[in-house]
Formats: sequence, C-alpha cells, structure tokens
Amino acid sequence: MGLLRAMRIGVLTSGGDCPGLNAVIRSVVHRATADHGDEVIGFMDGWKGLLEGDHRKLDLDAVGGILARGGTILGSSRVQPAHLRDGVERARGHVAELGLDAVIPIGGEGTLKAARLLSDAGLPIVGVPKTIDNDIAVTDVTFGFDTAVGVATEALDRLKTTAESHQRVMIVEVMGRHTGWIALHSGMAAGAHAIVVPERPFDIEELTARVAARFEAGKKFAIVVAAEGAKPREGTMAFDEGGTDVYGHERFAGVARQLSVELERRLGKEARPVILGHVQRGGTPTAYDRVLATRFGWHAVEAAHRGEFGMMTALRGTEITLVPLAEAVESLKTVPAERYDEAECVL
Ligand code: F6P
Repeated sequence: MGLLRAMRIGVLTSGGDCPGLNAVIRSVVHRATADHGDEVIGFMDGWKGLLEGDHRKLDLDAVGGILARGGTILGSSRVQPAHLRDGVERARGHVAELGLDAVIPIGGEGTLKAARLLSDAGLPIVGVPKTIDNDIAVTDVTFGFDTAVGVATEALDRLKTTAESHQRVMIVEVMGRHTGWIALHSGMAAGAHAIVVPERPFDIEELTARVAARFEAGKKFAIVVAAEGAKPREGTMAFDEGGTDVYGHERFAGVARQLSVELERRLGKEARPVILGHVQRGGTPTAYDRVLATRFGWHAVEAAHRGEFGMMTALRGTEITLVPLAEAVESLKTVPAERYDEAECVL
C-alpha cells in the first residue's frame, strides 16, 4: 500500500561526483516538501554520512540556486564495501533515530550495489543512478554523460587546431573505466580519426596503420580518442597496467601516455598525450542532464510515497520507470558492436 501521509526522507550522493547531482537533490526537496509536505534531510559525504549520522536539513532555501551548479552540495565519498557491510546496523540505527521513511541514495555502480545491500537488509531505499560513464545497464542514459561528452567534444575540437598547426598526433584520454561510451560519443561528435575502448582491445599495428594512412593521404594531423580503460590486444604491445585501489577500482597507468610513446616511435611523427580527467565531471550540467536529473528526483519521491522500495529510477525511451535494484547491479551497459560499426574509426 502507498504511503500517502507526509514522510521524512533522507538523501545522499555517493561515489564519483557528476554534473546533475544538485539538480536531483533540488528536485527531491521541491517535490517532497512543496507538494507532499515532507521533511528532507541530506546525509553528508555519501554513505559515510549515513553511517556516522552526519546530516543537515534540506528545505527550499537550502536548495535555492543549485540547479545549474556542478558537484554536490552534500559532498560525496567512496566507501569500501566491507566497511558498509559492517555498518548496516549503524545505518539502520540512524534511519530509525531520525525517523526516516525513505532513503534516496544517488550514485553509480558501487553506490547502487551498496543501496541493494541496505535494501536487502530491510531499509526503505529508492535509488537514483548517476555516472558520466553511462554504464548502468537498466537505464538508457544516466545524467552527467551528456555534459561529459560535451566537454570532451569541445576539447577534441580545440585539440584539432593545435594538432594541425604542429603536424602532430594527439592521443586524448577520456574517462570510462569499463566502457567506452564517452570515447565513442565524443569521438564521433568531433570526427576523431581513431577511437579505442575497453570493450574491444586494440591492435597497435592496426592503429598505427590507420594513422599512417591518414598522413600518407596528405593530412597533417590525427586525433586518437582513448577511453582510460582501453587496453591493447594481448601480446601486441608492452603495456603497463595499474593495479587496483582500496575500493577495488582499477588504477590506470595511462593509456594515452603509453600510446603516444608507441605511436611516435612507430610513425616518426610527434605525438602528445592529453588527459582530460576530472574536467569532464566538473562544472555546470547541460540542459539535458538537468532535465533528466530533475525527472529522476521527482520520480524517486513518488516511488517512496507509493512504498516502492528496493527500486531505482531509470530512463526507458522517453519514460521514467522503476527497476529493481537487484537488476540494476547485475551487469554493466557496454557499447554494443553495432555502435562501433557506425563509428567507423573504432579499432
Ligand atoms: O565512475 C565515474 C568516474 O568518473 C570514472 O569515469 C573514473 O574512472 C572515475 O570515476 C575516477 O574516479 P576518482 O574521482 O576517484 O578519481
């Protein structure tokens, strides 16, 4: 049965930040307080805030002017899975103490796994997916992706002019640990000459041949886009891998740097690595991301009022739907082969 009475809702942002987080927070507060008469609190710095009970009140004033702001007014952090597993009872205690009827965590793959863990433990959770990587399987798009692609595309456009002036090969590393969505979209949008993605290990011979053919055809420069998680086909090139960090995330040793050394040697042309890094995640969200984030926030509050816990908001076509958190964390959305074919320049 739905919960039609006013509620107390907790919201938090966890994992790597992403343009549009503030738009979700604002939307949750607007829908919950102005339309339902709810009270909303925000936990500080991700799951850490829930585990430690660190929170602040979120009213309409608190979310004034944040729609277009990048980052998250609540702060974010990553948490080690084991730390969270040990903290389930503490989290339950804080939810009870604060009289919360629902908790809305906004986050990517790791956050949604944590959300599922707490939901399975009986906490009233409605998840909201976010990530610039766009790799959450059960939603067509995550907010933040459009902004990141826009930033990367603008950078690629700019790099083309300087590459041409100096007859250089620019290898531009974009984010994308497991999937090449940002590389594919920005590469297509900017007309890159080669794109390498984690889903399809590249062959250095093929990559060299493609860039060489361009110079032989009289072109003065080349732009290669590499997703940070891209790797060479086994045995085709010496490659330094980076190991893992304390959160179990792969640490990268720099595909752009390694490729630029290799391409310069093989082609006899100057090559430069450019790592776009966190600039892709910073700053104001695009209109698309603001709208998607706002819709997710609205629907998360509605789901909470209907008592639909253990679910996550998702975009399917043009509709916002709810999908079980269990499904959300089953697999990642990788770039399908048909999408590479359309891009032509994916190796
Ligand atoms: O998952 C989002 C993401 O931006 C990835 O694309 C990237 O690999 C990672 O976060 C970077 O994480 P951090 O901010 O911890 O360096």
